[in-house]
Amino acid sequence: MIRSHVLVCGGAGCLSSGCHAVQDALASELKKRKLDKEVQMIVTGCMGPCDLGPVILIHPDSTFYQRVTALDVPELVEEHFVKGRPCKRLLPREELGDNVITTQRDFAFLAKQTKIILENCGVIDAEKIEEYVARDGYAALGKILTGMTPEQVIAEIKASGLRGRGGAGFPTGVKWELMAKVSVKPKYVICNADEGDPGAFMNRAVLEGDPHRVMEGMAIGGYTMGANRGFIYIRAEYPLAIKRLQIAIEQAYKNGLLGKNLFEKGFDFDLELRIGAGAFVCGEETALMRSIEGRRGQPMPRPPFPAQRGLWGKPTNINNVETWAAIPTIIRKGAAWYASLGTEKTKGTKVFALAGKIKNTGLAEVPFGTPLRDIIYEIGGGVPNGKRFKAVQSGGPSGGVIPAQHLDTPVEYETLQKLGSIMGSGGLVVMDEDSCMVDVARFFLEFCCDESCGKCPPCRVGTKQMLNLLEKICRGEGELADLDKLEDLCNVVREASLCGLGQTAPNPVLTTLKYFRHEYEQHIREHRCVAGLCGNLQLSPCENTCPLNMNIPGFLQLLKEDRIDDAFEQVVMDNPLPSTTGRVCQHPCELRCRRAGVDASVNMRETHRYIGDVMYESGGAKRVLQRILKRKQAATGKKIAVVGAGPAGLSAAFYLALLGHKVTVYDRAPNAGGLLRYALPGYRLPKKIVDKEIAFIRSAGLQFKFKAELGKTLQLDKLAKDNDAVFLALGTWEEQALGVPGDNAKGLLSSLSFLNETAFGKKPIIGPKVAVIGGGNSAIDAARTAKRLGADVTIVYRRSRGEMPAIADETEQALEEGVKLITMAAPLRVITGNNGRITGLEVAKTVPGKYDARGRRAPVVTKDTYVVPCDTIIKAIGEKPESQLTKTLGLATTSWGSLKVDPWTLQTSNPKVYAGGDYVTGAANVATAMGAGKKAAKMIDRQLTGLDRFEELWPKFDYDHTIPPPSQGGPRNPARLIAPAQRRGNVEVSPTFTEWQAKAECFRCLRCDIKTSGNGAKSH
Ligand SMILES: Cc1cc2nc3c(=O)[nH]c(=O)nc-3n(C[C@H](O)[C@H](O)[C@H](O)COP(=O)(O)OP(=O)(O)OC[C@H]3O[C@@H](n4cnc5c(N)ncnc54)[C@H](O)[C@@H]3O)c2cc1C
Ligand SMILES: Cc1cc2nc3c(=O)[nH]c(=O)nc-3n(C[C@H](O)[C@H](O)[C@H](O)COP(=O)(O)O)c2cc1C
Ligand code: SF4
Ligand code: SF4
Ligand code: FES
Repeated sequence: MIRSHVLVCGGAGCLSSGCHAVQDALASELKKRKLDKEVQMIVTGCMGPCDLGPVILIHPDSTFYQRVTALDVPELVEEHFVKGRPCKRLLPREELGDNVITTQRDFAFLAKQTKIILENCGVIDAEKIEEYVARDGYAALGKILTGMTPEQVIAEIKASGLRGRGGAGFPTGVKWELMAKVSVKPKYVICNADEGDPGAFMNRAVLEGDPHRVMEGMAIGGYTMGANRGFIYIRAEYPLAIKRLQIAIEQAYKNGLLGKNLFEKGFDFDLELRIGAGAFVCGEETALMRSIEGRRGQPMPRPPFPAQRGLWGKPTNINNVETWAAIPTIIRKGAAWYASLGTEKTKGTKVFALAGKIKNTGLAEVPFGTPLRDIIYEIGGGVPNGKRFKAVQSGGPSGGVIPAQHLDTPVEYETLQKLGSIMGSGGLVVMDEDSCMVDVARFFLEFCCDESCGKCPPCRVGTKQMLNLLEKICRGEGELADLDKLEDLCNVVREASLCGLGQTAPNPVLTTLKYFRHEYEQHIREHRCVAGLCGNLQLSPCENTCPLNMNIPGFLQLLKEDRIDDAFEQVVMDNPLPSTTGRVCQHPCELRCRRAGVDASVNMRETHRYIGDVMYESGGAKRVLQRILKRKQAATGKKIAVVGAGPAGLSAAFYLALLGHKVTVYDRAPNAGGLLRYALPGYRLPKKIVDKEIAFIRSAGLQFKFKAELGKTLQLDKLAKDNDAVFLALGTWEEQALGVPGDNAKGLLSSLSFLNETAFGKKPIIGPKVAVIGGGNSAIDAARTAKRLGADVTIVYRRSRGEMPAIADETEQALEEGVKLITMAAPLRVITGNNGRITGLEVAKTVPGKYDARGRRAPVVTKDTYVVPCDTIIKAIGEKPESQLTKTLGLATTSWGSLKVDPWTLQTSNPKVYAGGDYVTGAANVATAMGAGKKAAKMIDRQLTGLDRFEELWPKFDYDHTIPPPSQGGPRNPARLIAPAQRRGNVEVSPTFTEWQAKAECFRCLRCDIKTSGNGAKSH
């Protein structure tokens, strides 16, 4: 007796990941263990989550196994069938935490779908007609042949609200009615299985997994519209679907379900396959029919429509695979049932092919009206590798991109059209922050340009002209006027093209222009592609990602050649705080380092720290300073005031002074450095390092004026009057409220004031038990500092550890030092005793809720509460720009109260006043703030002199340009750390690299700059 069914996916995705070997191994293992009589293996079509393939589903318990290899099979059989427990290692894991998902019902990807079209895919063996029949297959054909007139079928299809799934969404019942009314004979029905758009594979999966469903739908259509012959037009690239269709057609003929006198009701229906060569335009119905006729696949003007003059001049009805596949279920279950799913305008379900930067690549069937966010996050699992969602392309090359702000759009033909995209056949290609939207437009346009049949000039010539413009922009040679030209061309091509290919080809361009115009402008104005995909616009991936655009391969090569003075000069010109950033930068540069493809990314942060530290320590920095000062530009006579001596203000002042301007830096604090001096703890960033670097910057010839506070002792109007330009870099110093009862209790501190006091050498009063609320760098710093003051410290964070914004290594170090961490807990109330002092923090457990605009799941507070005992609470939940001061400056502000600046020039509403750093972006990080300072210097200088002189400040070094073998350099050198027991007071936790380590990192660099620019030249 069969006690268990093992469904092994045999879809194309799982085939390519090796399901044949798994099937063979399973068959022999079951036989070997004499289980083959009680455990039956069934090879099915696609189950949906193709990326996890080969996948296996075991019934009756619905256990779902992923990424099974032939080698896993003995263990799987032993655990599941012999020991009777799931083989844990092969189960999928929950997105957050380590919990495994045992059954199909608990796996959101499968559980959240509504399967009608795909109801048999992944369930039956598509090569056995009996399995389809056992699932009510051909019952609908029997029902209409034995009891319904064509008119009744048409009425049923009309009432169901079914709309064509090939892209345009034309009501199927209406289309059938038009054709049924035509009296000319013979008539034909066609299934359009051309599916040519990149990223779409839902039609293929249906034909591979459940071919009879489509055939049954076509036979029903043939009866209803009076056609006795049908064709399935399928592309040659789908060999498995073709094979399964051939088997299905043969079996249907053998069983009397195709051919003569079906169900003995006098209706004949023949079905044939026609294989297309894979031209996208052949999916267009008139081109498709010409292709079947053996002619060149080119579209024809409509009218006449296929129902009037179709295949060989005879009335023809063409429907998409999915449209045909919906028919049997509608007939079996009734129009009312079908119409109960979906929305007012669009009934039923739609199959989407999820592709691109999404965790669960595969097929998802959902009712119309499901928000895009649910499809991408709840079912698709969101964007992998902690990256941010940028956009989703729906409808393939004829569709458009939809950005994050429209993720809550319910999916329907009309809603997507409103956004400038289309439903198309159901491809959804997700893009993350590493996608360049100009490149996306270029990719899809290149596709349309290649696939244009060439019959009509607007499409043939227009798409090529558009492509030329996009390529020019991607090369960094674009002009702003090109954007207007592009839009004009889009309109002409859209209006004047003969068929849908040309008419919709502009959609990706128009939508990227509409939603991501700033990226086009960035390519044109700044010659920069943030995603780093337009090769001409970057020196190397690391340079492109570093907010300071450091010439990383350049300094690595110079150090490799033992030219440390040159390396330092290169480093310090790109980044005037190399030792500071070398200790605290979040090193985004490493995220795209190509060496990670070999083993692990190059440790560039520690290497430029080494260069800085050694040069300051040895006195070499002074030598190099003289070289830099030789390039200092002659005095311009222009006066510039910089307010704020944090990283942003310091970097702006450094470059402006070197450009020959008279620069005065004002700060209300008694010394320079901003948060570097007054918040970041000394065990992480020793003050002597900050001092040395600031002294170096000062040597560029700038003046400091301390204890000068804007809004009090300094007035903006006067500064603007007395200077030629003002740069405001005030940072974020206003504390946010906790917003829970007890927020003002005695003993509740903010991390900034706590760290600030410590930085001033004071010893803040804290109790023996401290709770720190937050998960960023500030929370970790406050916790480690409190620990050093002798407290027992617990950090309370509302999301999971993986979602903490703090630098991951810093969190790890805090835990090593004995700091405790509670995650998934949100503060509810500060508990105080009779004397008003804190006795605890009441928190509620949180669970991951809905995905927000950034793609993170908002923590949802549960009723499960508990108390974290403590006598001091430090809130580290972030700071914002000082709102009162900002209001009084008389400058334009944004709706959330920050200063409004032009993103390209950093100019405020007063053209003499510029602003940047945390003050504009909100709390960010050191390198980003410095990048803003650098940009402000460039823009202010350009404005004051009318020249582009920035490049003149940089040294031009010659160095070796030989591409090194990837085997060089050995494994990555991580940052050095002293033992946790030695971490006391302000002892620096992480010593500088040794020379050997720094050099080894230089040897590990693959010199990506050689391929892209050839000579290491770069623009600052
Ligand atoms: C505890 C903590 C830890 C951090 N850790 C890291 C880290 O590890 N890595 C990282 O990259 N980033 C870190 N950051 C963030 C980083 O310090 C900031 O992003 C960066 O310092 C911002 O630079 P800024 O120049 O824009 O502002 P700030 O550094 O805030 O400098 C602003 C300056 O303006 C002055 N000022 C303000 N108002 C006035 C006024 N009215 N008149 C005159 N002067 C005024 C202030 O005194 C200050 O000197 C951390 C921040 C904190 C709070
Ligand atoms: C360039 C182009 C390519 C097309 N490709 C397909 C395709 O691959 N599959 C499809 O069903 N329809 C495709 N169509 C739409 C068909 O012309 C036709 O509208 C559709 O097959 C009708 O079926 P439906 O009513 O079931 O949607 C394409 C249209 C154009 C303009
Ligand atoms: S291999 Fe070298 S040049 Fe390439 S990204 Fe990494 S550090 Fe930069
Ligand atoms: S400043 Fe930061 S991002 Fe730039 S190279 Fe250094 S560590 Fe990397
Ligand atoms: S092909 Fe196996 S899950 Fe899609």
